[in-house]
Amino acid sequence: MKVKKVFSCSNCGTNASKWEGKCSACGEWNTLIEEEVHKTSKHEDKKQIWRAEGAIKQQPILIQNVKHSKSPRLSLPDKEFMRSLGGGLVPGSITLIGGEPGIGKSTLLLQLALKSQFDILYVSGEESPQQIKMRADRIGIENKTCTILAETDLNKILKQANKTTPDILIIDSIQTLLSPLVDSVAGSISQVRECTSNLQAFAKESYIPVIIIGHINKEGSIAGPKILEHIVDTVLQFEGDRNHIYRILRTKKNRFGSTDELGIYAMETSGLRQVENPSELMLSQSDEKLSGSSVATTVEGMRPMLIETQALVSQAIYGNPQRSATGFDLRRLSMLLAVLEKRAGLFFGQNDVFLNIAGGLKVQDTAIDLSIVTSLISSLHNIPVDKKMCFAGELGLTGEIRAVNRIEQRIEEAARLGFQHIFISKYSEKGLSKKAYGIEVKTLGKIEDLVTAIFT
Ligand code: TYD
Ligand code: MG
Repeated sequence: MKVKKVFSCSNCGTNASKWEGKCSACGEWNTLIEEEVHKTSKHEDKKQIWRAEGAIKQQPILIQNVKHSKSPRLSLPDKEFMRSLGGGLVPGSITLIGGEPGIGKSTLLLQLALKSQFDILYVSGEESPQQIKMRADRIGIENKTCTILAETDLNKILKQANKTTPDILIIDSIQTLLSPLVDSVAGSISQVRECTSNLQAFAKESYIPVIIIGHINKEGSIAGPKILEHIVDTVLQFEGDRNHIYRILRTKKNRFGSTDELGIYAMETSGLRQVENPSELMLSQSDEKLSGSSVATTVEGMRPMLIETQALVSQAIYGNPQRSATGFDLRRLSMLLAVLEKRAGLFFGQNDVFLNIAGGLKVQDTAIDLSIVTSLISSLHNIPVDKKMCFAGELGLTGEIRAVNRIEQRIEEAARLGFQHIFISKYSEKGLSKKAYGIEVKTLGKIEDLVTAIFT
C-alpha cells in the first residue's frame, strides 16, 4: 500500500498536490490541510454497493404530476427540537447537528430516539451497543422500536438501512464514517464530504430523513469542509457552556423553515430536559443587593428571555489592564468601554474588567448592551442596581441608546416576571402605549441619561 499526501481546502474541499497559502479554487487564505491518502490497488470494491439493491431510479417528471406526500413532516416528541426544525422532520431531508465534544449531542438524539414511537436506526461509530445501553438506562425511557448499530463502514450502514427501511436514520458522528470509495482516514475532509453526499443521495432516494452529528473544531465551525453545510438541508448548532446546565439548539440554516428559531434545554442527571420558560431559570435567585449586576431582556430566536449580566471592575495590578468576557463578544465589550469613556466620562483605563452572562449562554442580541453598561457602571461606582429594574437597548458609538426589535414582547415578558421598571430607548416609544403593560416604562436617549436616572 502506497501512502500519498494531498492537501485539501477546509473551505471548499478542493484538492491540491502541494501546499499553498491561498486556495486556488475558492480564494480563501490558510485553509489547505495536509491529508494522507492510502492507495489500494484493488478497485472492484469501489462500487456504491448500497445502491445496487432496491434503489428507485429517479426519472424526469412533470412538476404538475408530482404528488404531495401525505404527511409532510414527521412529528417528534420534543417541542424544542421541533421548534428548531421549523415544525418537524421533513421526509428525505438531511439534518446536521453540530456542537463541541461533550456538549450533549449523542444524549439529545438518543433521547429523541427513545421517546419517539418511530422505528429508528441509531448508528454509532463512537460507542459500542453496551455503552449506548448504559446511556439509555441513565435517560431511563423504555423503548421497543429503536435499533442500534455500531458500525463505521458507510456502505454497510446504508445496506442495512436499505434492508430494514427505518423511519429515521441517525448517524453519530459523521467524523467516524468511512467510505471505501475514498482512501483517506476517517474524519478527513474527503471522507466527510464523500460520506455526507452519499447519505444525502440515500435520503433523497429512500425518503428516509437522516440526522447526522458533526463535531465542531476549535474555531467553532463544523469540522470538515464548509460544503458539508451546503450539502445538508438543515444545520442545527448545539451550544452552551459545558460547566453550566443550559444548552441552546440554534438553527443556522434551514431549507424548510425559518432560522430565527431555537430550542432550550437543561442537562440534568437523567438527560436533557426541555425548558419552556427560560427566563425564570436564567435569573439568579439571590435577594442580596450587590453591585455589578443587572437584568437584560433579550429575544433569542422568537422567544423573549430575561438574563442577568454581571460585571466586575477592579483595580488593575499589572501594567496592562485585563478585559475578559464570557458569553459576550470581547470586541463589543471594548467598544462599550470606549463609548462609556468618551461619552459619559467614565474611565476604565486603570481597571481590569470581567464580564459574564449568567447561565453560560452566548447571547447574540445587541439589546443587552444597555444592561451590560449598567452592570459596568454599577461595579465601577460600587452602587447596586435595583432588582426590580430591567433593560433593553442597543448602544451606538455616539452614546445614543438605540431602539431594538420586538420591544412589546420584551416589556410583556418583564411585566410577567414581576419587574417594576423597564428602561428602553426613547426611539422605541413611537406607537407604544406605555401604560398598557402594568410595568413602568422609562425611556432614555443617551448614555448620560442612564447615569442620571440610576446612579445619581
Ligand atoms: P454526550 O451526549 O456524550 O456529548 P457529545 O455526544 O456531544 O459528545 O454528553 C456528554 C455529557 O453529558 C457528559 O459530560 C455527561 C453529561 N450527561 C448528563 O449530565 N446527564 C445525562 O443523563 C447524560 C446521558 C449525559
Ligand atoms: Mg457523542
